Amino acid sequence: MNKHLLSAADLSAADITRVLDTARHLAQVTDRAVKKVPTLRGRTVCNLFFEDSTRTRISFELAAKRLSADVINFSAKGSSVSKGESLKDTAATLEAMGVDAIVIRHPASGAPHRLAGWVDAVVLNAGDGTHEHPTQALLDLYTIRQHFPGFAGLRVAIVGDVLHSRVARSNVLALRTMGAEVTLVAPPTLLPWRVESWGVQVGYDLDAVLAKQDVVMLLRLQRERQQSGYLPSLREFTRLYGLDARRLAALPEHAIVMHPGPMNRGVEIAAEVADDPARSVITDQVANGISVRMALLYLLLGGPAIKEPVEEAR
Ligand code: CP
Repeated sequence: MNKHLLSAADLSAADITRVLDTARHLAQVTDRAVKKVPTLRGRTVCNLFFEDSTRTRISFELAAKRLSADVINFSAKGSSVSKGESLKDTAATLEAMGVDAIVIRHPASGAPHRLAGWVDAVVLNAGDGTHEHPTQALLDLYTIRQHFPGFAGLRVAIVGDVLHSRVARSNVLALRTMGAEVTLVAPPTLLPWRVESWGVQVGYDLDAVLAKQDVVMLLRLQRERQQSGYLPSLREFTRLYGLDARRLAALPEHAIVMHPGPMNRGVEIAAEVADDPARSVITDQVANGISVRMALLYLLLGGPAIKEPVEEAR
């Protein structure tokens, strides 16, 4: 693996398999009464969040703490960023304090790449603008692997606001690397320019593709990134692209429903679909995020070779 995790494009099939296998080992820690191992004792992880987050920030914090690392949570709100401090100066400050890993979420696409050029610490991209969210893709693949024996030929539909979705980009890259067949389904206005070069199928009619899918991954309609003109109306988007009970019934019986969160219930996904215990794996995605992020911190910070059972913290 590379020193940093900046893009899913940097991960080979062997890298992805190693992360998922390591996460499976480390998931044992979460099942214990004392959810902690000493692996990263003495190492410091900084969560550097310039954009709101619930799942990613908390699961990175839990992941680092379960490996016994020291954790610093930095939020742009309430920091010297509000006084005009640049990302480069913030990075230099963290570096001077001796952090070993920086987990960064930033509204600007490419910010993690810039950061990686300024610091010696390992940089993990926790979502940058509309570019990528590689740890989300890895936890999604981990969740898929809990339901299917492999990725080769697996049919995955990614539905909704692809244009603004870093989750879609990272998932397309990782799923294609593993041999899955990805179909993007969206209104033409919510698909990126030259999307045909992504090596995926593209469809505009959700009802036409549902019966063939093993996995349906809904994307959050990013209302905060919407400028006028992308959609005639929210109601029309939901009518054409929302996953409701009728569409759920059109999926094969074995198919699973995913959503990276946060959800717009009643927009891209109906509440009854999101809460369907037989089909929805949305809470599993959240839980798996901890194990996958533990695996990434472990592998990138150079933890010792995994032995079974994983050693307990004293
Ligand atoms: N999926 C995801 O990135 O969620 P958060 O924005 O809550 O971290």
